[in-house]
Amino acid sequence: MRLPRSVRDADVAEKTVLVRADLNVPLDGGRVADDTRIRASLPTLELLLAAGAAEVRVCSHLGRPKTDEDRARYTMAPVEARVQELLPDPRIRVLENTRFHPGETANEEAFAQELAEGCDLYVNDAFGSAHRAHASTEGVARLLPAYAGLLLLSELEHLGRLLGEIERPFVLVSGGAKVEDKLGVLEHLGGAADTVLIGGKMAEQVRMENPLSFPVELPVDVVGAAAFAEDAESRVCGYDDLPEGWLGLDIGPETRKRFAEHVAAARTIFWNGPMGVFEWPRFAEGTKAVAEAVAANRDAFSVVGGADSVRALNELGLADRVSWVSTGGGASLELLEGKELPGVAAIPSA
Ligand code: 3PG
Ligand code: MG
Repeated sequence: MRLPRSVRDADVAEKTVLVRADLNVPLDGGRVADDTRIRASLPTLELLLAAGAAEVRVCSHLGRPKTDEDRARYTMAPVEARVQELLPDPRIRVLENTRFHPGETANEEAFAQELAEGCDLYVNDAFGSAHRAHASTEGVARLLPAYAGLLLLSELEHLGRLLGEIERPFVLVSGGAKVEDKLGVLEHLGGAADTVLIGGKMAEQVRMENPLSFPVELPVDVVGAAAFAEDAESRVCGYDDLPEGWLGLDIGPETRKRFAEHVAAARTIFWNGPMGVFEWPRFAEGTKAVAEAVAANRDAFSVVGGADSVRALNELGLADRVSWVSTGGGASLELLEGKELPGVAAIPSA
């Protein structure tokens, strides 16, 4: 795998540095629910400060804001507060959500120029967003001398291991909410894994029509709920026997057992995306079962990626029991396809 040049090789003394971090953290009532991505971004910021940068402007997207109400919901304020708590330094500035500007996702040069304005160089440390060719992840790298941050490099080095000779069986567990994004990636990944276990919202989506052209293990049972609510009427149903209008909000007990058995027999594991609405205790058992199975398999090289899966792992106190906790979910999956991510491709080689 080609490695982009490192921020360690940049001369940043007295410079104003634009850093793209992935501070797209899970939120809970306006609070940062899991700060893994913030903490993972600190080493690069600390390095820049230690090397004498005059100013460090940190930018990131947060969520997928669309409406005006979303602007209040996805303001960077709580993230900024957490950054300042963890790394108090007047030279650090956290910019407002890049996605408040439509030019971000459209990768408009005008917005990239706005970001680059007054900056001497650009450091991309946003591994979790490196699969997006957006103004802050790709466009701006064409306007300023670009370098890779320490987290981005470390993710590439660790995840690169999954692209080499891996021990089999390789079990891939996929869930989470960003179904549209991931189905295409899974389709491309195809035969890379020996077993693909599908849960969460993804399993709900493929119930009627499964677009994947390779065999996957779907749930045999789910925890059905009469509504999308924490206290909804709920019971275990067969995967194909969900009452009309009900939703499957977690994988059921038999599925948990089967998924855990697959994970226990694996020598390489990649898990991305929760198995249900784990933020609500009544629908958390499936995610918990997968997290525990991954953590219990000490013989496998295990990677858990994605902000929500990592949050679940942290809440269960299991993060130190897996081989690599990745800040990237979709980005890790796309890397597994063997493609170079646009955010990485935009940075010159070492
Ligand atoms: C993520 O959480 O996967 C990254 O931050 C990218 O977010 P996105 O899927 O909204 O582009
Ligand atoms: Mg995510």
